[in-house]
Amino acid sequence: MKLYKLNIFIVILSSQLIASQPIIYGDKGVVVAHSQAACDAGIEILKDGGNAVDAAVAVSYALAVTHPQAGNLGGGGFMLIQMADGRKAALDYREMAPGQAHRDMFLDDSGYVAEGKSIRGGLAVGVPGTVAGMQLALDKYGSMSRKKVLKPAIHLAQKGFEVPYDLAYSFGWLNQAAIDFDETRRIFCCNGELYMPGDLFKQKDLAKTLKLIQKKGNKGFYEGAVAEALLKSSTAHGGTISLEDMANYKALERVPVAGIYRGFDILSMPPPSSGGIALISMLNMMEAMSFDSLGWHSAQHIHRLTEVEKRAYADRSVWLGDPDFFEVPQNTLVSKAYAQLRMLDYDSLNATPSDSIYPLNDRDLQNIGVGGYESEETTHFSVVDQWGNAVSVTTTLNWSFGSYVTVEGYGFLLNNEMDDFSSKPGVPNSFGLIGNAANAIEPGKRMLSSMTPSIMSKDGKVVLVLGSPGGPTIITSVLQVIHNLVDYGMSLQEAVNAPRLHHQWQPDVIQYGPRSITEETAAELMQMGYQLQARSAFGEVNAISRDQIFGGWVGAPDYRIASHGSAY
Ligand code: DON
Repeated sequence: MKLYKLNIFIVILSSQLIASQPIIYGDKGVVVAHSQAACDAGIEILKDGGNAVDAAVAVSYALAVTHPQAGNLGGGGFMLIQMADGRKAALDYREMAPGQAHRDMFLDDSGYVAEGKSIRGGLAVGVPGTVAGMQLALDKYGSMSRKKVLKPAIHLAQKGFEVPYDLAYSFGWLNQAAIDFDETRRIFCCNGELYMPGDLFKQKDLAKTLKLIQKKGNKGFYEGAVAEALLKSSTAHGGTISLEDMANYKALERVPVAGIYRGFDILSMPPPSSGGIALISMLNMMEAMSFDSLGWHSAQHIHRLTEVEKRAYADRSVWLGDPDFFEVPQNTLVSKAYAQLRMLDYDSLNATPSDSIYPLNDRDLQNIGVGGYESEETTHFSVVDQWGNAVSVTTTLNWSFGSYVTVEGYGFLLNNEMDDFSSKPGVPNSFGLIGNAANAIEPGKRMLSSMTPSIMSKDGKVVLVLGSPGGPTIITSVLQVIHNLVDYGMSLQEAVNAPRLHHQWQPDVIQYGPRSITEETAAELMQMGYQLQARSAFGEVNAISRDQIFGGWVGAPDYRIASHGSAY
């Protein structure tokens, strides 16, 4: 038996016993993801000697089978990697606007945003990135063959799996919503017969596609029969993706964005995600504040969090976009000096109205003088292995079941990620997010994301892996879990389970999830000038932390939705 090594982080990361759910603990490896079958696929790979990246690729493909609302072949995502040997990488396999896309493609003749065009059907689809992303991950950081890592997903598609309750429910509403999408209803809704919880769901077409990818890699997806079928299905629903777009798609390796919060190193996703920059800039603003004497979710606590969130989201609206098309002032936005400047107008007693919080302007950026210019459904899963490698992945079709277009004969859905672009400056997208030139549509450009796969370390060792779905609420969900752990000493499961709040600058309201706020606190906040809006639970933070008592890993699935974990 190992000696217990007591240190300060025990309090922060190891008081797991308070959690009411069974504790997922593994000496060697843990996977936490939306679907149990996908977690098991990852553990199977780890047990077979694969590293966390091999397992992450297996989990990602398994989710494409068992969680078709968000797991995907026809979407994209981000993979953040921290290897035990010190290598760090941010893999960008975000979808890309097709060659024929243009700035005003979603405007009608009068210049208004045409309702629904960026959401359903072929025009909503960006060139998918997941298959290329998995190949890049495996080539550069994995250790296993495609044959091995795709095996569990192929098995799940071919032999089928028992439909969990939440999936049966989703298929039910898809059957009504996707009325004009015959192939989608054929594959996922038995042409209206509908799967019941516990029914076996087999996907022969999808198994065929997975086998082609297994055999040929990128060529099995971006060229040949699959690419041609994708083009045909997208075109039939009004899309413009071409074979050239497919052949041109590339997954990219980027440098992760890094920050420090109260002595912990934070690693997260750089642009084209806004997540990492916004997360680190919010943490920087919070570092100057003390939470010691503040009751959790007291009016003063919520006030501080909200003011920080408003400022970061105001900057997101102007300064964030695909860095290959727009110069994102990354160094400035993640600097401590910027955080100080940003909070100068913070009023400790009253809400600052969002209309008087402006995105940082060019002059402010120059005055700070640091760095200057530099060049509802998603899913998150976390993986760690016996060597201390950690992988944090968020992947998506954007909305649940994406554009509703299923590639005929190949069994997979296409994303509706084009809605994450700004269709018109200042006009909110379907998540209420406002964008401008930085995130305008251009051919070959990647749309801005909020996905925030993140990893926290201490002295070079991973202590926390996390991320979430939830559109704009992704960033604030990740922020609140880190904050609950570091500033409120919660156990990991408590930090994940804790009710959440969200403010995204515009609209100027605090959105509050179930049980997140008392009536008295709400009254106090309204007196300070806040507007409040109740909403359903949001975020699904699937996290893992290092256990300081026994030395292994503890997994914390977000039980508010329906997540799972496996360990060994
Ligand atoms: O990339 C993004 O920020 C969005 N496409 C994510 C969408 C999302 O999280 C929806 N789900 N809950």
